[in-house]
Amino acid sequence: MQPLFLPRLAAGDLTTDLDLTSAELVSLLELAAAVKGEPGQYRSALRGRIVSLLFEKPSLRTRVTFEVAAKQLGGDSILTIGPVGGREPVQDVARNLERWTDLIVARTFSQKTVDDLARYAQAPVVNALSDMYHPCQALADMQTLREHWGGWQGHKLTYVGDGNNVAHSLMLDSARLGIHYSCVTPAGYEPNEQIAEKARAYAAETGAKIEITSDAAEGLKGAEAVYTDVWASMGQEHEAAERARTFAAYQVNAELMRLAAPGALFMHCLPAHREEEVTDEVIESATSVVFDQAENRLHAQKALLLMLLDGPAR
Ligand code: CP
Ligand code: NVA
Repeated sequence: MQPLFLPRLAAGDLTTDLDLTSAELVSLLELAAAVKGEPGQYRSALRGRIVSLLFEKPSLRTRVTFEVAAKQLGGDSILTIGPVGGREPVQDVARNLERWTDLIVARTFSQKTVDDLARYAQAPVVNALSDMYHPCQALADMQTLREHWGGWQGHKLTYVGDGNNVAHSLMLDSARLGIHYSCVTPAGYEPNEQIAEKARAYAAETGAKIEITSDAAEGLKGAEAVYTDVWASMGQEHEAAERARTFAAYQVNAELMRLAAPGALFMHCLPAHREEEVTDEVIESATSVVFDQAENRLHAQKALLLMLLDGPAR
């Protein structure tokens, strides 16, 4: 198979999901499938390229998959753990790193830090999770859904839990791919309204329905995939006890899964807190695809690196 033609992403960065146009999103997911099917085609694509990895917060999947992706594409990566912009302004960090490395991947507490890196660095910047978005996760999740559903259009995904970074990115990509997206959250923990508005605008074009509700039975009706995430995200640990009380009725357990369509997939970005947001029984069940999601982080991010840096067909 010939390598796919790789148009460079117009925005030059992935600071939020919306840096990808809808057409680029589909192209990237096509490339992710091709990379997964024939990884050897791309093994020299990033020869000589160095990826900077900046992590203000812990990570297993994101860190390892970006390191492996860079190496398997013929490049390399450098990892820095700690605050971005503590010793010097973020704009200076950006303008140093771009002199030595070809692309910056950043996991930050604040979205503003990612935005500032992108603003000041000529090199592409990738959001590896901020307080608002987790676009790389959503790419892998969309790849996983297509593998199990055979497509996206008209299928239904229900997210249950906190209206957080993962919920936002899933909502934006679902809307653009024609997936009906329902977000089931307790009152006060709904997704950001501006992001929901953007998702509704995309949904109006693709025919997707976007629903935000506190009623689990309503939101899970007809759901072909049920997705959850931790109740307290990184940086919210001090709220964990209060959130545990508020979210208790939204635990994804066997009873809640019965509100979804028969055979519904179970999804989680991981790390999971078993017996909190999901029971051990559900995450270990036959329809759980959490490790497919984790695997696809690698393939989707390879596609992303290829489309942000020079690929073989450019
Ligand atoms: N899902 C995810 O981003 O995992 P890490 O926090 O381990 O990177
Ligand atoms: N919402 C979680 C996702 C972890 C991958 C967090 O931000 O901690």
